[in-house]
Amino acid sequence: MAQETSRCVGPVVLLGPPGAGKGTQSKRIMEHYGIPQVSTGDLLRDHVDRGTELGLIAKAVMARGELVSDDLVCHMVQQRLMLPDCKRGYILDGFPRTAAQAGWLDALLEHELFDKSCPTKAWPIVIRLDVDYNLLLLRITGRRSCPTCGRIYNVHFQPPRVDEVCDEPHGTKLVARNDDRLEVIQPRLTAFREQTRPVADYYERTGRLISVNGDQSVDSVTDEIFKIIEDRHA
Ligand code: AP5
Ligand code: MG
Repeated sequence: MAQETSRCVGPVVLLGPPGAGKGTQSKRIMEHYGIPQVSTGDLLRDHVDRGTELGLIAKAVMARGELVSDDLVCHMVQQRLMLPDCKRGYILDGFPRTAAQAGWLDALLEHELFDKSCPTKAWPIVIRLDVDYNLLLLRITGRRSCPTCGRIYNVHFQPPRVDEVCDEPHGTKLVARNDDRLEVIQPRLTAFREQTRPVADYYERTGRLISVNGDQSVDSVTDEIFKIIEDRHA
């Protein structure tokens, strides 16, 4: 499919449990529509790597598999959405994750954070990726990513051509995420069940939730997501 890098897409929210494929699909949407991936997990990990004040707080919370406080995360998201590359839209990957964050986002969008000339200033397209629990465990424990380009692999499902090495020309050694350890996965899944499911329920009640079967191939999931975005703008 040809790239669509000039029209307004508006906000796209990807909901789903750890390992559902939010990051994988965000990168596909980003490449196709030319709108940025705003991943709260990636932004927080960047703060941790840089040793910022937020990073120091987030590091311990993330290592326990719990959620960072709403105030800190919302402030971080607001700063990111103010950058000019969000004018035509953006993909929220892993945000909102609590009822408070969803309410905050709605309030923010009421004030039209991005370009008023954009015809898609309306509510976000909210897509939930549903994946079977046992598959999630395989996806999370098998995940590797490239610290240079961010490309995501999986030793079971999307292995690199050479073991543990990125396929891109830089050939960086792949790494496993610090919170993909078995003892942290369970608290992350619990946080999703207890704090993030109500967010999906909220969007469902307001008629804004679209569910996609995330148990399909990466390409099939992408096809469904692109169709949802196209239907919204038809
Ligand atoms: P975050 O980084 O958002 O992690 P997560 O939500 O747990 O989700 P993951 O990144 O683990 O999974 P994903 O859905 O992106 O899957 P991926 O595409 O990589 O958050 C980390 C932490 O930060 C949180 O625990 C919390 O502490 C904090 N945080 C973040 N946001 C916050 C917020 N809003 N509020 C408070 N705290 C926050 O895919 C997984 C694997 O599966 C990969 O190996 C991939 O190759 C493979 N795969 C993907 N799709 C398919 C497919 N269709 N078929 C086969 N394999 C597939
Ligand atoms: Mg992710």
